[in-house]
Parts: sequence; structure tokens; C-alpha cells
Amino acid sequence: MATQNTNDENDDMLNGEVAEEVRPFRDAEHKIAAAFLNRWSPRAFAPDPIDDETLMSVFEAARWAASSYNEQPWRFVYARSDEDRKRFLDFLIPGNQAWAKDAPVLVVVVARKTFTFNGKPNATHHFDSGCASGYMTLQASLNGLYAHGMVGFDPDKARATLEIPDDFVPLAVFALGHRGATESLPAELREREEPSGRRPVAESIMEGRFHLATEKKAEADTEIDAGNS
Ligand SMILES: Cc1cc2nc3c(=O)[nH]c(=O)nc-3n(C[C@H](O)[C@H](O)[C@H](O)COP(=O)(O)O)c2cc1C
Repeated sequence: MATQNTNDENDDMLNGEVAEEVRPFRDAEHKIAAAFLNRWSPRAFAPDPIDDETLMSVFEAARWAASSYNEQPWRFVYARSDEDRKRFLDFLIPGNQAWAKDAPVLVVVVARKTFTFNGKPNATHHFDSGCASGYMTLQASLNGLYAHGMVGFDPDKARATLEIPDDFVPLAVFALGHRGATESLPAELREREEPSGRRPVAESIMEGRFHLATEKKAEADTEIDAGNS
């Protein structure tokens, strides 16, 4: 399923430089900015703090995401102090606490479920906030940082801890920081500490109508992968 390529010809497909660390694991089938390949989600974070300007630049990028009616339903609640990071870590599942504890910044993505202008439900609050989160992670990568998303958290606990109003929903948590040493991770996570691949573009796109054959092929590949792991 994953595509792998160490071929320098891949550079012709990219605007910008592919980072050394992702080069053995990722390639592009079509021309894109290298920034898309360079963003990935490690778990080993160094404790070095993120300076204000760099952190704000990450939120600035998220600001420019598109959204239905330009509602901008996303909110980012972040923790930097030891005290706040401890409060945020407390609502992560243990598997995520094990590595996210070292990240200097934790960000909870919260979305407003209704439109500000009429109070009616906003069906795209998830979608729009996901897009903004994507911008955030891409800018983090461009700033030399790493972001790792987590759905493994207790939303009720997060709501209570962060005093999130009923009209808003916590969607995901992101660990943000500089890359740490792989050896700092629990043993079972060390071997997973490398950029992942992707299925071919052709298995994600369908012209004119939904093609079930495309879906069947993707499922078959997943089974093969599972069998090999
Ligand atoms: C919304 C979201 C939730 C995720 N939840 C978790 C999680 O709880 N724990 C974890 O270790 N990784 C989590 N991930 C990371 C994904 O596994 C990772 O993004 C995916 O394997 C693709 O790898 P890449 O980000 O390095 O390209 C999450 C990612 C996203 C976007």
C-alpha cells in the first residue's frame, strides 16, 4: 500500500526540497510542494520550548483556512506551562500520555457547532476545523516543528477541564514541538517512529461516479498489509 522511493527523479515532482528524514519513505506521483511530504507525525519530542512568534505563526496559518459562511468554527486551546500541560495530559488516553508528555505545547482543537449569525447548526464544523488543523500542522512543519494529532482523549474530561461551553465540541488534541530522540520513546513505539506512506492517488479518486471496484482494491491491499505485519 505504501509507496516508497529513494529515486532522485522524484525531485522533478516537487516544488522545494524533500527533507532527508522523509526521503526514503515518501514520494509523489504528481507535482506538489515538498512541504506536503515533509510534514509527518513523530512521537518523540524534545522538551525545548517554542518561542511565541513561531507558535503564533502556526495559529496564523490555521486562521486562513476556508470555512462554510466563513464562520471559522475552530478554536485552539493550548497549554505551555508545566501546570497547564499536566492538566491537558490528564485527559489523554495512557497510550498518548506516554509520548505526548514531552511535547512543550499541547493544543486542543475545539469547534463551535452553531453559526454565530443565526444560532443554527453548522453541519461543517468538523470539516472546517479539520482543514484549519491541517494548515496548522503544515505551518508547524514549515517552521521546523512537528505536530502529532490525537483523537485518543476523553472529550468529557477535556470539556470539564477546559470549561468548554455546550455549544462547542473538542475534536482533537495536537502535540507540538521539536523532534526528540527516538530512544526517548517506550520500546514499542520506537519502531513506528518513521514517516508513513500512502495508497496510490488512483485508489482515492473516482471520475464521474463512485466506483466500487476502487474501494474493493483498497480493502484487498489493507488485508495483505495486515497479513504481513
Ligand atoms: C485527527 C487525528 C487523530 C489522531 N489520533 C492519534 C492518536 O490518538 N494517537 C496517535 O498516536 N496518533 C494519532 N494520529 C496520528 C495518525 O496516526 C497519523 O497522522 C497517520 O498515521 C499519518 O501519519 P503522518 O501524520 O505521519 O503522515 C491522529 C491523527 C489525526 C489527524
